Amino acid sequence: MSEQTAHDRILIIDFGSQVTQLIARRIRESGVYSEIWPFNAVTEERIRAFDPRAVILSGGPASVTEATTPRAPDAVFQLGVPLLGICYGQHTMCAQLGGEVEPSDHREFGRAYIDVVDHCDLFDGLWAVGDREPVWMSHGDRVIRLPPGFRVVAVSDSSPFAAVADDSRQFYGVLFHPEVVHTPHGAALLQAFTQRVAGCRGDWTMAAFRNEAIGRIRNQVGDGKVILGLSGGVDSAVAAVLLHEAIGDQLTCIFVDHGLMRAGEADAVVDLFRRHYNIPLVHVDAGEMFLSRLDGVDDPEAKRKIIGATFIDVFDAEAEKLKGARFLGQGTLYPDVIESVSFAGGPSVTIKSHHNVGGLPERMNLELIEPLRELFKDEVRALGRELGLPEAFVGRHPFPGPGLAIRVPGAVTTEKLEILRKADQVFLEEIRTAGLYDAIWQAFAVLLPVRTVGVMGDGRTYDFVCALRAVTSTDGMTADYYPFPHDFLGRVATRIINEVKGINRVVYDITSKPPGTIEWE
Ligand code: XMP
Repeated sequence: MSEQTAHDRILIIDFGSQVTQLIARRIRESGVYSEIWPFNAVTEERIRAFDPRAVILSGGPASVTEATTPRAPDAVFQLGVPLLGICYGQHTMCAQLGGEVEPSDHREFGRAYIDVVDHCDLFDGLWAVGDREPVWMSHGDRVIRLPPGFRVVAVSDSSPFAAVADDSRQFYGVLFHPEVVHTPHGAALLQAFTQRVAGCRGDWTMAAFRNEAIGRIRNQVGDGKVILGLSGGVDSAVAAVLLHEAIGDQLTCIFVDHGLMRAGEADAVVDLFRRHYNIPLVHVDAGEMFLSRLDGVDDPEAKRKIIGATFIDVFDAEAEKLKGARFLGQGTLYPDVIESVSFAGGPSVTIKSHHNVGGLPERMNLELIEPLRELFKDEVRALGRELGLPEAFVGRHPFPGPGLAIRVPGAVTTEKLEILRKADQVFLEEIRTAGLYDAIWQAFAVLLPVRTVGVMGDGRTYDFVCALRAVTSTDGMTADYYPFPHDFLGRVATRIINEVKGINRVVYDITSKPPGTIEWE
């Protein structure tokens, strides 16, 4: 559990649905704090200590009708707080409270319609009897007998129990997924549940988070010193500005410049932090060391390992010089710390831990301070805006730790990096001019280790091929290529070939992920 917030809290019990995180995000978007806990790692004591205003049971891949089915902890039915079961959550709630669930021979996946057939407090003011609502379904089981106290309030073509309610206990169950955008009124339904039914105040804003986080940081740090590695990305930058606001010059940032940044980015980072925020910043220009260690290495994993290890060496050496630091600040986010449901592993859970400078805290005997570990990425961006970080910085595309090294397939050289930077700059410039930057998750150029023949003026050329990559995505896990208009691609190709010496051919990558990955290495 995260450090207790003073705001109303919603507990989401996770049964392993692919979209559980969306429940938390929708609820937080409406100003109510929520956390996700795996069903198999919660204890009654933990739940009571968290003191939620309401509980939501997520969907999940299991079937209630299987022999060893995941169960909600009994405590959630005895807390006396409102309860909402979604899909599998509805099934297990009904089964555990004395109803009956069976596998359905008619599965419902994707878009469906529900018909509202009765009133309930959850629907009040949102849906009326007779309304037909588009929703998104994904389920196999269905309830065949309701537990005592429940009524049917909505049906669908294949589910006579699409939504069920027990107003006296404020227990509700829906078979559809209100958390996905394909259920158009889903967010409103979740807000009705948390705010109207459960009475949450909706006062969890980024301004409130900022103030509380500052208090927590001061408590944890006291008069100790903190060091933080700036990567040039949004997370470490927001963590740095927040820490600086809390503890001023007790914070020193270390920016390990590996020489693998995009054109102008290293200067922009130094400028922003040193001049704009006046944050003590050590800028280590370690480009030569990285490049010499990468010399002749062409295996992508070997390149990643060398970069990671060199980063730690350089950071460690600089941190040593600072003497007396007790804390290591990091921009770890909530998706990295959510304990994920592991059906195979029984009650033990896998905790994803993503440390940007892995291994350092133990090696240097530092205590971690992670002020963003309760936040999703879009919340970090909102906090960045709240802290006055420029929009161009807050809204920037993700950039991989190993930088341009993984955008130069094969061995990396200074010459190739220079060529790549120029092409990448032209591509990004054109994307910004066309107003497309925010519609794209990531866009970049890749310099292929292939030379082709061309003709420029009267002469023959024999130069590198540049591949352009631009994708849409919500989390980087899946992605699709961005459908640029042909004239846009033509313009970028012409500019790159005319302006960037060393490239005479440009191609556009139209591979989705899967089966491709976003980066080429
Ligand atoms: P892939 O290429 O796996 O990338 O589809 C998914 C997302 O992760 C980023 N990426 C990395 N980020 N270190 C990082 O910090 C890495 O080694 C790394 N490799 C890929 C990539 O830019 C995309 O956003």
